[in-house]
This record gives sequence, structure tokens and C-alpha cells, in this order.
Amino acid sequence: MLLGLASPSRGASLAAARASRALRVRSGRAFASASAVAKEPRFITTPIYYVNGQPHIGHVYTSLACDVVARFSRLDGHKVLFLTGTDEHGQKVEQSACKAGESPQDFADRVSDTFRALLPLYDFSVDQFIRTTEARHKEAAAALWSALVESGDLYLGAYEGWYSVRDECFYTEEELVDGNAPTGAEVEWVAESSYFFRLSRYRQRLEEHLLAKPTLGVSRCLSVLAFMRDGLRDLSVSRTTFTWGVPVPGPPPPDGLSHVMYVWLDALTNYLTALGYPDTEAADFRSFWPASLHVVGKDILRFHAIYWPAFLMAAGLPLPKRLFAHGWWMNEGEKMSKSVGNVVDPVALVQRYGPDPVRHFLLSDVTFGADGDFSEKKLVESSNAKLANEPRSGIRLPLGNLAYRTLSFTQKQCGGAVPAPDAFSEDDLQLLAEAAALLPQLRTHVDSMALHRYSQGVSGLASAANRYIDVQAPWALKKSEPARMRTVLYVLIEVLRHLALYSQPVTPRIGAALLEQLGARSSRDTAEA
Ligand code: MSP
Repeated sequence: MLLGLASPSRGASLAAARASRALRVRSGRAFASASAVAKEPRFITTPIYYVNGQPHIGHVYTSLACDVVARFSRLDGHKVLFLTGTDEHGQKVEQSACKAGESPQDFADRVSDTFRALLPLYDFSVDQFIRTTEARHKEAAAALWSALVESGDLYLGAYEGWYSVRDECFYTEEELVDGNAPTGAEVEWVAESSYFFRLSRYRQRLEEHLLAKPTLGVSRCLSVLAFMRDGLRDLSVSRTTFTWGVPVPGPPPPDGLSHVMYVWLDALTNYLTALGYPDTEAADFRSFWPASLHVVGKDILRFHAIYWPAFLMAAGLPLPKRLFAHGWWMNEGEKMSKSVGNVVDPVALVQRYGPDPVRHFLLSDVTFGADGDFSEKKLVESSNAKLANEPRSGIRLPLGNLAYRTLSFTQKQCGGAVPAPDAFSEDDLQLLAEAAALLPQLRTHVDSMALHRYSQGVSGLASAANRYIDVQAPWALKKSEPARMRTVLYVLIEVLRHLALYSQPVTPRIGAALLEQLGARSSRDTAEA
């Protein structure tokens, strides 16, 4: 059932509206029109995912958060570049390829494709998918290396200490917990010739940067400062005991060895590669750098909050505006791990439930930033409660009940056109005001990365509208007060229009289906009165 609803506010007569199902909802604006004041472009990035294993729900979570911000920003009039991709070099990938009996490149090609395949399954509105084995990336990584050489921040030395291949991270003796990395990963003793980056030089500037600008939430900021409290050691940024990486550029080093770049220096550069670096005059670089938002899991905070800004400072490049570290998903109380065999497979999940219920669950069940406990039972319960399937409309709507009741009744009583309202009552005005006030609130939730509040805000308005329809009972007004019935339906349709628009970032299919039912002419409904 498709209702072509026309708004009388555009001067369409009811008769004309009845005659033409193609008329569109244009009852005012929600998001600002594209022609309004130009808004800052937004460059939004996920971490690039290691290709040592198949994707799991934790990877989907980081991408989902970015997708919600990207979708909302586009609707809100920002030009957006949403970047994701795969991190394909390093010892971990080399070892996994070896175990699989494949060359690292063939292995990376295969696994990278499984990450790419997630994008349409979850409706991730990615603009660019980058791979660190691409030629353009190797060129960018080598250029960043050369910039660090020029700034005098690299020197040749020897690394002797602990290394975790799983974390691709160097650890000090003091950091180890029961002989393992603080993450629980195994560590091994490494002694090899290596280039070092003078990280120690940047401690003060990093601290000033962290304290001066609210680039990171308070608790994450404190943990980064705590890490730097006793000083920062220079960082080993090349490896010589394996070959799967970007070769260190320049003349052969005095030690006569072949160095490949440390995988984190290589990987972090992806955020620049995507914009055309080393060409800092490239159009995308000029529009989108510095990045508006890097979203990462809390486990990789150190790399993004310390190493990355230090590399950028050394290369004389502006620093990203915002970094957000989200929490960690467990599975039924246990840490997800391949060895335990409890990793949640995002492909099976989306095939079973569809993208919108999974997206909605991941973003509304847990405070964004805190850890969460995944359980399929909770997902099913949350979907049933909040995304109740409305069988007769044939689509899943967060507002299924509300939409079905309003639209089918309007179809029957008003021939599928938006009825002309009469005088508004207090209740009408209150609900309309609630709908109009939601956009600035949602904007605040996105800006502060309180993404769980976003879904709650949309559900809250849907609940208020459901209460309104119960109290106003338009079906009881049909004969006695037809003008009042039309006003109530007008109010409900206007609220549904807001709900349809605002539900798109988290549940894009539901939003699109509802907009179609409303006959809205575009996903932004930017019609100006
Ligand atoms: N390759 C690096 C990132 C380089 S970015 C320049 C990496 N990759 S990863 O595949 O291990 O992890 C990528 C993201 O997935 C991280 O943000 C991480 O926090 C997230 N998750 C992986 N497992 C997770 C959970 N169990 N729960 C939530 N997110 C977690 O790190």
C-alpha cells in the first residue's frame, strides 16, 4: 500500500490530491535545505580492519557508528567523505597467510573482500574503501616516512623488548600482566635493528593538545595522559625480521638490512592516502583534511591519541578534530575470541534479522562509549518491542503501529491526501513542537557521540505520537467532528514525516519505506515553504 500524501500547505486541493497519488508531502522543512549556509565538510573514518581473520560484530560496530554520523551529517547538509578499509601488512597478517598456505597478497585479497562484502549487507554508506596494499597507499606511507626524516625525527638503533604480534604493539616490562600484554595477548622478546621515531620530543605538545582542545572525552583523555605521565619512549617504527610491509624508502641503511615500516605507521597513513596525500593540494585533501572524526575501539586509543598526532606534528600537518573511542562488545559475558569460538558472525546475524534490527539493537541497547554484552536473545526482544513488525503494511517500522494506524485511516477517510487542518488544540501544538524540537536534540547527540540517545530520541517521539493517537482517537471523530479528525490526522502525518526523516541514519530501510509511504519526494525532504 503506497499512500501518495499531498500537503494542503502547498496549495493542493483535496480533490486534486485524491486524483493524483503522485503528489508529495511538502508540509514544511525538517533538515535545512541544501542551499542554506554551506556547512563544514566532514571526513569520517573507521579504523582499517586487519585481514588476519574474518570480520566480526566488533568491526561492524565501529563502522555502524561512523555510518550513523555520516548519514546524519549528509542529511544535515554537510558534504561527507566516509572512509573505511583494510589493514593488510605486518607480521600478524603474514603469519595468518602462512598458516592458510597462501601468499600474503592472495590471502589479503580474499579476506579484504569479506570486509567489503559487509558494506551492502549492513547498508554502510561508505564513500571510499581503502587497502594498504594499494600502490597509492604505499606511495603515501613512503612520503610520510620521508617527511619524518626531513623533520629529523627518525634515527637508526636497535629495539630490544616485548612485542605482541596479535596487538602489533611494543610493550614495556612494566606494562605486562602475568607475562602477557595488558590485553591478554601473548608477547615475545624481540631484538632487532630498527628505525626509531623521536616520540619523546612530542610529549609536551601532545599533552597541551589533549588538554587544550576537546578532541577526546574526559575519561579517555585521562587514560592517555596517564600513559604519558612517566614520559614517552621513542617508538620503534621499522621491522627487519620479516618482509610483509611497506619498504622503508631512501638509500640503503647503514646496517645493510631491509626495513619495512611498522604496521601502525603504515596503517595510520591511510587517513591521508584516501585524500590524495602526498598531494596536499588535491581537492579532497583541501576539503577534508584535517579529519572531522576518527572513530576507534578503546583498545586502539594509544595509537590514535598519541602516535598519530605525533606523526602529524612531525610532518607539519594539521591534527584531526575529533577522536572517539567506543567500548568493547562481549558475548554473553565472555570476551569474544576465535579460540573460545564465541565470535558473533555479522553475516549470519544480518541474514537472519536484516540490517535495521541489528543496527538498531547495537546502537540503542548500550551507552555508546561503554562496554556491551551481546546476546541474540536481547536482540530479538529489542526488535520485537521497538521494531514491531506490522504485518499488514508488509514493512518493519520502529513506528509500525503508529504509521499503520495513521496511514491506513488517512487512506480510507481522506483518499490518501494530507487533510487540511482546522484550528490546533493545545495537545496538537505540543506534539508538533516536540517533533520540531527533536532535530536540534538529535544534532547534539550526534555531535557529542551519544549515539544511543539518538535512537532513544526517535523512539520517544514515536511513543508520544502513539499516546496522542490513543487519546485523540480520530476514528471516534469521523462522524461527530470530521474537521477535528482531519486536524488530528494532519498532526500525525506531520510527526510521521519527522520520524521518517530522523530514523534514516540508524534504520535507513525503515526510514526509506516510511518516506515512500508518505510519498515524500526525497530522503531529505528539503522542500521550502
Ligand atoms: N588494524 C587496526 C586499526 C588500524 S587503524 C589505522 C585494528 N584492526 S582490528 O581489526 O583489530 O580492529 C578494528 C576495530 O574493531 C577497532 O576499533 C576495535 O576496537 C574494533 N573491535 C574489534 N573487536 C571488538 C569488540 N569485541 N567489540 C567492539 N569493538 C571491537 O585494530
